[in-house]
Amino acid sequence: MNLPKLRIGFLEVEVPIVQGGMGVGISWENLAGSVAAQGAIGVVSAVGTGYRYPDLVKRDKYGRPIGSLNAHSPEALKKMIREAKEISKGRGAIGVNILCAITDYERVARDAAEAGADLIISGAGLPLKLPQSVEGYDIALVPIVSSARALNLICRTWKRKYNRLPDAVVLEGPKSGGHQGFKYEDCFKPQYQLENLLPEVLKEAKRWGNIPVIVAGGIWSYSDILWYLEKGASGVQMATRFVATHECDAPLIYKEVILEAEKEDIILLKSPVGYPLRVIRTPFVERLLAGVNGWMGCVSNCITPCNKGEEAKKVGFCIADRLGAAWLGNYEEGIFISGANGYKLKKQGIIYVKELIDMLTGKIPDPTLEDTGRKITVS
Ligand SMILES: Cc1cc2nc3c(=O)[nH]c(=O)nc-3n(C[C@H](O)[C@H](O)[C@H](O)COP(=O)(O)O)c2cc1C
Repeated sequence: MNLPKLRIGFLEVEVPIVQGGMGVGISWENLAGSVAAQGAIGVVSAVGTGYRYPDLVKRDKYGRPIGSLNAHSPEALKKMIREAKEISKGRGAIGVNILCAITDYERVARDAAEAGADLIISGAGLPLKLPQSVEGYDIALVPIVSSARALNLICRTWKRKYNRLPDAVVLEGPKSGGHQGFKYEDCFKPQYQLENLLPEVLKEAKRWGNIPVIVAGGIWSYSDILWYLEKGASGVQMATRFVATHECDAPLIYKEVILEAEKEDIILLKSPVGYPLRVIRTPFVERLLAGVNGWMGCVSNCITPCNKGEEAKKVGFCIADRLGAAWLGNYEEGIFISGANGYKLKKQGIIYVKELIDMLTGKIPDPTLEDTGRKITVS
Protein backbone atom coordinates (compact mmCIF):
# COMPACT_ATOMS: atom_id res chain seq x y z
CA MET A 1 0.00 0.00 0.00
CA ASN A 2 1.21 3.53 -0.79
CA LEU A 3 1.70 5.72 2.25
CA PRO A 4 -0.22 9.02 2.28
CA LYS A 5 1.55 12.34 1.71
CA LEU A 6 2.45 14.46 4.73
CA ARG A 7 1.21 18.05 4.86
CA ILE A 8 2.75 20.52 7.29
CA GLY A 9 1.39 24.04 6.77
CA PHE A 10 2.31 25.08 3.24
CA LEU A 11 4.61 22.06 2.79
CA GLU A 12 3.66 18.75 1.25
CA VAL A 13 6.00 15.79 0.96
CA GLU A 14 5.41 12.45 -0.73
CA VAL A 15 6.81 10.23 2.01
CA PRO A 16 5.35 10.81 5.53
CA ILE A 17 8.70 10.24 7.24
CA VAL A 18 10.72 12.88 9.05
CA GLN A 19 14.34 12.00 9.75
CA GLY A 20 14.80 13.21 13.33
CA GLY A 21 17.45 15.85 14.00
CA MET A 22 20.57 14.34 15.58
CA GLY A 23 23.21 16.42 17.28
CA VAL A 24 26.11 16.85 17.43
CA GLY A 25 26.85 16.20 13.78
CA ILE A 26 24.90 12.99 13.21
CA SER A 27 22.37 14.66 10.93
CA TRP A 28 23.89 17.46 8.97
CA GLU A 29 23.69 18.34 5.27
CA ASN A 30 24.53 14.95 3.81
CA LEU A 31 21.95 12.88 5.67
CA ALA A 32 19.24 15.57 5.59
CA GLY A 33 19.75 16.24 1.87
CA SER A 34 19.77 12.52 1.03
CA VAL A 35 16.55 11.89 2.96
CA ALA A 36 14.83 14.85 1.30
CA ALA A 37 16.01 13.57 -2.11
CA GLN A 38 13.79 10.51 -1.47
CA GLY A 39 10.72 12.72 -0.98
CA ALA A 40 10.76 12.72 2.83
CA ILE A 41 11.81 15.41 5.34
CA GLY A 42 15.52 15.63 6.11
CA VAL A 43 16.53 17.49 9.26
CA VAL A 44 19.82 19.29 9.94
CA SER A 45 20.76 19.56 13.60
CA ALA A 46 21.56 23.14 14.63
CA VAL A 47 23.59 22.24 17.72
CA GLY A 48 27.36 22.37 17.70
CA THR A 49 27.55 23.36 14.02
CA GLY A 50 30.92 24.97 14.76
CA TYR A 51 32.42 21.46 14.79
CA ARG A 52 31.44 20.98 11.13
CA TYR A 53 33.47 23.86 9.71
CA PRO A 54 36.31 24.43 12.20
CA ASP A 55 37.92 27.06 9.98
CA LEU A 56 34.85 29.27 10.27
CA VAL A 57 34.95 29.44 14.07
CA LYS A 58 37.22 30.21 17.02
CA ARG A 59 38.32 27.10 18.95
CA ASP A 60 40.41 26.24 21.97
CA LYS A 61 43.48 23.98 21.88
CA TYR A 62 41.29 20.84 22.08
CA GLY A 63 39.24 21.97 19.06
CA ARG A 64 36.21 22.99 21.15
CA PRO A 65 34.30 26.01 19.76
CA ILE A 66 34.59 29.00 22.11
CA GLY A 67 31.27 30.53 23.20
CA SER A 68 27.82 30.01 21.78
CA LEU A 69 28.34 32.01 18.57
CA ASN A 70 31.13 29.62 17.60
CA ALA A 71 29.44 26.50 19.02
CA HIS A 72 26.16 27.13 17.15
CA SER A 73 27.70 29.00 14.23
CA PRO A 74 25.36 30.94 11.89
CA GLU A 75 27.76 30.63 8.94
CA ALA A 76 28.12 26.87 9.40
CA LEU A 77 24.35 26.35 9.69
CA LYS A 78 23.65 28.44 6.60
CA LYS A 79 26.26 26.55 4.58
CA MET A 80 24.74 23.22 5.66
CA ILE A 81 21.20 24.21 4.75
CA ARG A 82 22.33 25.43 1.33
CA GLU A 83 24.20 22.16 0.72
CA ALA A 84 21.36 19.97 2.02
CA LYS A 85 19.03 21.73 -0.44
CA GLU A 86 21.47 21.10 -3.27
CA ILE A 87 21.72 17.38 -2.39
CA SER A 88 17.91 17.12 -2.22
CA LYS A 89 17.58 18.48 -5.76
CA GLY A 90 14.38 20.25 -4.76
CA ARG A 91 12.59 17.12 -3.52
CA GLY A 92 11.12 16.60 -0.04
CA ALA A 93 11.84 19.33 2.50
CA ILE A 94 14.73 20.45 4.69
CA GLY A 95 14.10 21.14 8.36
CA VAL A 96 16.32 22.32 11.18
CA ASN A 97 16.20 20.80 14.67
CA ILE A 98 16.89 23.31 17.42
CA LEU A 99 17.05 22.27 21.05
CA CYS A 100 15.06 24.80 23.11
CA ALA A 101 17.80 24.58 25.72
CA ILE A 102 20.60 25.94 23.54
CA THR A 103 22.12 29.30 24.34
CA ASP A 104 21.10 31.88 21.69
CA TYR A 105 17.99 29.88 20.77
CA GLU A 106 16.23 32.84 19.19
CA ARG A 107 19.25 33.82 17.12
CA VAL A 108 19.71 30.23 15.89
CA ALA A 109 16.01 30.02 14.91
CA ARG A 110 16.44 33.22 12.89
CA ASP A 111 19.65 31.84 11.32
CA ALA A 112 17.66 28.78 10.16
CA ALA A 113 14.87 30.93 8.72
CA GLU A 114 17.32 33.29 6.99
CA ALA A 115 19.10 30.30 5.48
CA GLY A 116 15.86 29.19 3.81
CA ALA A 117 14.99 26.09 5.86
CA ASP A 118 11.45 24.86 5.18
CA LEU A 119 10.63 24.08 8.79
CA ILE A 120 11.94 24.21 12.36
CA ILE A 121 11.44 21.27 14.72
CA SER A 122 12.13 22.14 18.31
CA GLY A 123 12.08 20.25 21.60
CA ALA A 124 13.94 19.56 24.87
CA GLY A 125 11.86 22.31 26.43
CA LEU A 126 8.83 24.21 25.15
CA PRO A 127 9.46 26.62 22.24
CA LEU A 128 7.04 29.22 23.58
CA LYS A 129 8.67 32.19 21.83
CA LEU A 130 9.53 30.50 18.53
CA PRO A 131 7.03 32.42 16.32
CA GLN A 132 8.54 35.71 17.48
CA SER A 133 12.06 34.62 16.52
CA VAL A 134 11.12 33.90 12.90
CA GLU A 135 8.59 36.67 12.36
CA GLY A 136 8.46 37.72 8.71
CA TYR A 137 9.78 34.40 7.36
CA ASP A 138 7.79 31.70 5.56
CA ILE A 139 8.80 28.76 7.68
CA ALA A 140 6.70 25.95 9.18
CA LEU A 141 6.99 25.52 12.94
CA VAL A 142 6.82 22.12 14.59
CA PRO A 143 7.26 21.79 18.38
CA ILE A 144 8.17 18.47 19.97
CA VAL A 145 5.99 17.51 22.96
CA SER A 146 5.59 14.52 25.24
CA SER A 147 2.04 15.23 26.46
CA ALA A 148 -1.29 16.77 25.50
CA ARG A 149 -0.74 19.29 28.30
CA ALA A 150 2.45 20.59 26.66
CA LEU A 151 0.69 20.90 23.30
CA ASN A 152 -2.16 22.81 24.96
CA LEU A 153 0.27 25.24 26.59
CA ILE A 154 2.10 25.89 23.31
CA CYS A 155 -1.15 26.41 21.36
CA ARG A 156 -2.62 28.73 24.00
CA THR A 157 0.56 30.80 24.22
CA TRP A 158 1.16 31.03 20.45
CA LYS A 159 -2.50 31.88 19.75
CA ARG A 160 -2.64 34.58 22.41
CA LYS A 161 0.75 36.17 21.78
CA TYR A 162 1.33 35.63 18.07
CA ASN A 163 -2.05 34.58 16.61
CA ARG A 164 -0.35 31.50 15.21
CA LEU A 165 -0.57 27.75 15.82
CA PRO A 166 1.97 24.98 15.23
CA ASP A 167 1.94 23.69 11.64
CA ALA A 168 2.39 20.18 13.04
CA VAL A 169 3.54 18.65 16.30
CA VAL A 170 5.97 15.82 17.00
CA LEU A 171 4.85 13.60 19.87
CA GLU A 172 7.99 11.91 21.16
CA GLY A 173 7.69 8.85 23.42
CA PRO A 174 10.37 7.54 25.81
CA LYS A 175 12.07 5.04 23.47
CA SER A 176 13.73 7.79 21.44
CA GLY A 177 17.42 8.56 21.20
CA GLY A 178 18.91 11.42 23.18
CA HIS A 179 16.89 13.48 25.65
CA GLN A 180 13.56 12.25 26.98
CA GLY A 181 10.75 14.61 27.96
CA PHE A 182 9.97 12.42 31.00
CA LYS A 183 11.36 11.72 34.45
CA TYR A 184 13.70 8.72 34.51
CA GLU A 185 11.20 6.38 36.21
CA ASP A 186 8.33 7.51 33.94
CA CYS A 187 10.22 6.37 30.84
CA PHE A 188 9.34 2.79 31.77
CA LYS A 189 5.69 3.23 32.82
CA PRO A 190 2.96 2.00 30.43
CA GLN A 191 0.98 5.26 30.57
CA TYR A 192 3.95 7.19 29.14
CA GLN A 193 4.58 4.89 26.19
CA LEU A 194 4.03 6.48 22.78
CA GLU A 195 0.99 4.41 21.82
CA ASN A 196 -0.73 5.36 25.08
CA LEU A 197 0.09 9.07 24.81
CA LEU A 198 -1.19 9.35 21.25
CA PRO A 199 -5.01 9.37 21.81
CA GLU A 200 -4.91 12.37 24.19
CA VAL A 201 -2.52 14.30 21.96
CA LEU A 202 -4.68 13.62 18.90
CA LYS A 203 -7.70 14.90 20.82
CA GLU A 204 -5.81 18.07 21.80
CA ALA A 205 -4.53 18.56 18.22
CA LYS A 206 -8.10 18.28 16.92
CA ARG A 207 -9.31 20.95 19.36
CA TRP A 208 -6.98 23.44 17.71
CA GLY A 209 -8.10 22.64 14.16
CA ASN A 210 -6.54 19.29 13.31
CA ILE A 211 -2.85 20.00 13.76
CA PRO A 212 -1.02 17.05 12.13
CA VAL A 213 0.58 14.79 14.74
CA ILE A 214 3.91 13.15 13.88
CA VAL A 215 4.91 10.33 16.22
CA ALA A 216 8.48 9.55 17.28
CA GLY A 217 10.45 7.24 19.53
CA GLY A 218 11.02 3.56 18.80
CA ILE A 219 9.24 3.44 15.44
CA TRP A 220 11.12 0.90 13.41
CA SER A 221 9.38 -0.54 10.37
CA TYR A 222 6.85 -0.14 7.60
CA SER A 223 4.31 -2.04 9.69
CA ASP A 224 4.93 0.29 12.68
CA ILE A 225 4.34 3.26 10.37
CA LEU A 226 1.09 1.78 9.04
CA TRP A 227 -0.02 1.04 12.61
CA TYR A 228 0.49 4.64 13.76
CA LEU A 229 -1.11 6.10 10.63
CA GLU A 230 -4.11 3.90 11.25
CA LYS A 231 -4.28 5.24 14.83
CA GLY A 232 -4.50 8.81 13.49
CA ALA A 233 -0.90 10.04 13.18
CA SER A 234 -0.09 11.99 9.99
CA GLY A 235 3.53 10.90 9.84
CA VAL A 236 6.45 9.49 11.80
CA GLN A 237 9.81 10.87 12.91
CA MET A 238 12.62 8.33 12.96
CA ALA A 239 16.28 8.77 13.80
CA THR A 240 18.16 5.69 15.03
CA ARG A 241 17.69 3.71 11.80
CA PHE A 242 19.20 6.58 9.81
CA VAL A 243 22.46 6.40 11.79
CA ALA A 244 23.32 3.15 9.99
CA THR A 245 23.33 4.69 6.52
CA HIS A 246 26.29 5.59 4.34
CA GLU A 247 25.00 9.14 4.03
CA CYS A 248 24.73 9.73 7.81
CA ASP A 249 27.17 12.51 8.79
CA ALA A 250 28.52 10.57 11.79
CA PRO A 251 32.06 9.12 11.56
CA LEU A 252 32.30 5.36 10.86
CA ILE A 253 33.21 4.62 14.49
CA TYR A 254 29.85 6.11 15.61
CA LYS A 255 27.99 3.76 13.26
CA GLU A 256 30.11 0.81 14.43
CA VAL A 257 29.43 1.57 18.10
CA ILE A 258 25.67 1.53 17.50
CA LEU A 259 25.87 -1.58 15.28
CA GLU A 260 27.69 -3.46 18.02
CA ALA A 261 25.41 -2.36 20.88
CA GLU A 262 23.31 -4.98 22.67
CA LYS A 263 19.94 -4.17 24.20
CA GLU A 264 21.39 -3.86 27.73
CA ASP A 265 24.15 -1.49 26.53
CA ILE A 266 21.58 1.25 25.77
CA ILE A 267 20.88 3.14 28.97
CA LEU A 268 19.60 6.44 30.37
CA LEU A 269 22.02 8.94 31.93
CA LYS A 270 21.46 12.21 33.78
CA SER A 271 22.31 15.08 31.44
CA PRO A 272 23.16 18.75 32.07
CA VAL A 273 20.10 19.63 29.91
CA GLY A 274 17.98 18.41 32.83
CA TYR A 275 16.34 15.39 31.12
CA PRO A 276 17.38 11.72 30.97
CA LEU A 277 19.68 11.08 27.98
CA ARG A 278 19.67 7.72 26.15
CA VAL A 279 23.21 6.65 25.28
CA ILE A 280 25.34 3.58 24.62
CA ARG A 281 27.71 2.22 27.28
CA THR A 282 31.14 3.19 25.94
CA PRO A 283 34.38 3.74 27.90
CA PHE A 284 33.53 7.30 28.97
CA VAL A 285 30.04 6.26 30.15
CA GLU A 286 31.56 3.31 32.07
CA ARG A 287 33.95 5.69 33.85
CA LEU A 288 31.07 8.05 34.63
CA LEU A 289 28.99 5.19 36.07
CA ALA A 290 31.99 4.20 38.17
CA GLY A 291 31.94 7.69 39.72
CA VAL A 292 34.62 9.49 37.67
CA ASN A 293 33.75 13.12 36.98
CA GLY A 294 34.75 13.93 33.39
CA TRP A 295 33.87 17.60 33.35
CA MET A 296 36.69 19.69 31.88
CA GLY A 297 35.38 23.23 32.42
CA CYS A 298 32.95 25.24 30.31
CA VAL A 299 34.22 26.55 26.98
CA SER A 300 31.25 26.54 24.60
CA ASN A 301 28.45 27.81 26.92
CA CYS A 302 26.20 25.62 24.79
CA ILE A 303 22.94 25.33 26.74
CA THR A 304 21.21 27.67 29.18
CA PRO A 305 19.96 25.10 31.80
CA CYS A 306 23.59 24.11 32.39
CA ASN A 307 24.33 27.57 33.78
CA LYS A 308 27.83 27.84 32.27
CA GLY A 309 28.98 24.46 33.50
CA GLU A 310 27.24 24.28 36.90
CA GLU A 311 25.02 21.34 35.92
CA ALA A 312 27.74 19.70 33.82
CA LYS A 313 29.98 19.66 36.87
CA LYS A 314 27.20 17.97 38.87
CA VAL A 315 26.41 15.23 36.32
CA GLY A 316 30.09 14.77 35.46
CA PHE A 317 30.24 15.80 31.82
CA CYS A 318 29.71 18.66 29.38
CA ILE A 319 27.20 17.63 26.73
CA ALA A 320 28.78 19.71 23.94
CA ASP A 321 32.30 18.43 24.66
CA ARG A 322 31.24 14.77 24.82
CA LEU A 323 28.97 14.79 21.76
CA GLY A 324 31.63 16.84 19.97
CA ALA A 325 34.25 14.22 20.89
CA ALA A 326 32.01 11.45 19.49
CA TRP A 327 31.60 13.39 16.25
CA LEU A 328 35.38 13.72 16.07
CA GLY A 329 35.53 9.91 16.30
CA ASN A 330 36.94 9.71 19.84
CA TYR A 331 35.64 6.35 21.13
CA GLU A 332 37.29 6.71 24.55
CA GLU A 333 36.01 10.19 25.38
CA GLY A 334 32.80 10.60 23.39
CA ILE A 335 29.15 10.01 24.29
CA PHE A 336 27.23 8.04 21.65
CA ILE A 337 23.46 8.39 21.47
CA SER A 338 20.96 5.74 20.38
CA GLY A 339 17.24 5.06 20.58
CA ALA A 340 16.10 2.09 22.69
CA ASN A 341 15.89 -0.06 19.53
CA GLY A 342 19.45 0.68 18.39
CA TYR A 343 20.53 -2.91 19.10
CA LYS A 344 18.35 -4.07 16.17
CA LEU A 345 20.56 -2.20 13.69
CA LYS A 346 23.06 -5.05 13.46
CA LYS A 347 20.54 -6.90 11.28
CA GLN A 348 20.36 -3.86 8.99
CA GLY A 349 24.06 -3.08 8.63
CA ILE A 350 25.10 0.14 6.91
CA ILE A 351 22.87 0.76 3.89
CA TYR A 352 21.95 3.64 1.57
CA VAL A 353 19.16 6.06 2.52
CA LYS A 354 17.24 5.05 -0.60
CA GLU A 355 17.23 1.40 0.52
CA LEU A 356 16.08 2.39 4.00
CA ILE A 357 13.24 4.54 2.66
CA ASP A 358 12.27 1.69 0.31
CA MET A 359 12.11 -0.66 3.34
CA LEU A 360 10.13 1.83 5.38
CA THR A 361 7.62 2.36 2.60
CA GLY A 362 7.15 -1.37 2.02
CA LYS A 363 8.84 -1.49 -1.38
CA ILE A 364 11.58 -3.95 -0.43
CA PRO A 365 11.90 -6.53 2.39
CA ASP A 366 13.33 -5.36 5.71
CA PRO A 367 16.02 -7.72 7.08
CA THR A 368 15.54 -6.48 10.64
CA LEU A 369 11.88 -7.28 10.82
CA GLU A 370 10.37 -9.08 13.75
CA ASP A 371 6.68 -9.75 14.17
CA THR A 372 5.49 -6.99 16.55
CA GLY A 373 2.15 -8.76 16.95
CA ARG A 374 0.30 -5.64 15.84
CA LYS A 375 -2.73 -6.17 13.64
CA ILE A 376 -2.85 -3.79 10.70
CA THR A 377 -6.19 -3.04 9.16
CA VAL A 378 -5.25 -0.20 6.78
CA SER A 379 -6.26 -1.14 3.23
C1 LIG B 1 22.16 10.04 17.64
C2 LIG B 1 20.91 10.80 18.02
C3 LIG B 1 20.98 12.15 18.31
C4 LIG B 1 19.82 12.88 18.59
N1 LIG B 1 19.90 14.24 18.81
C5 LIG B 1 18.77 14.97 18.94
C6 LIG B 1 18.82 16.39 19.00
O1 LIG B 1 19.89 17.00 18.93
N2 LIG B 1 17.65 17.07 19.13
C7 LIG B 1 16.42 16.42 19.20
O2 LIG B 1 15.38 17.08 19.31
N3 LIG B 1 16.35 15.08 19.14
C8 LIG B 1 17.49 14.35 18.99
N4 LIG B 1 17.39 12.98 18.86
C9 LIG B 1 16.05 12.36 18.84
C10 LIG B 1 15.58 12.13 17.40
O3 LIG B 1 15.45 13.32 16.68
C11 LIG B 1 14.27 11.34 17.28
O4 LIG B 1 13.13 12.08 17.59
C12 LIG B 1 14.20 10.07 18.08
O5 LIG B 1 15.44 9.47 18.23
C13 LIG B 1 13.22 9.12 17.43
O6 LIG B 1 13.31 7.83 17.94
P1 LIG B 1 14.12 6.66 17.19
O7 LIG B 1 15.54 7.05 17.26
O8 LIG B 1 13.78 5.45 18.00
O9 LIG B 1 13.63 6.59 15.77
C14 LIG B 1 18.55 12.22 18.62
C15 LIG B 1 18.50 10.85 18.35
C16 LIG B 1 19.64 10.14 18.04
C17 LIG B 1 19.53 8.66 17.75
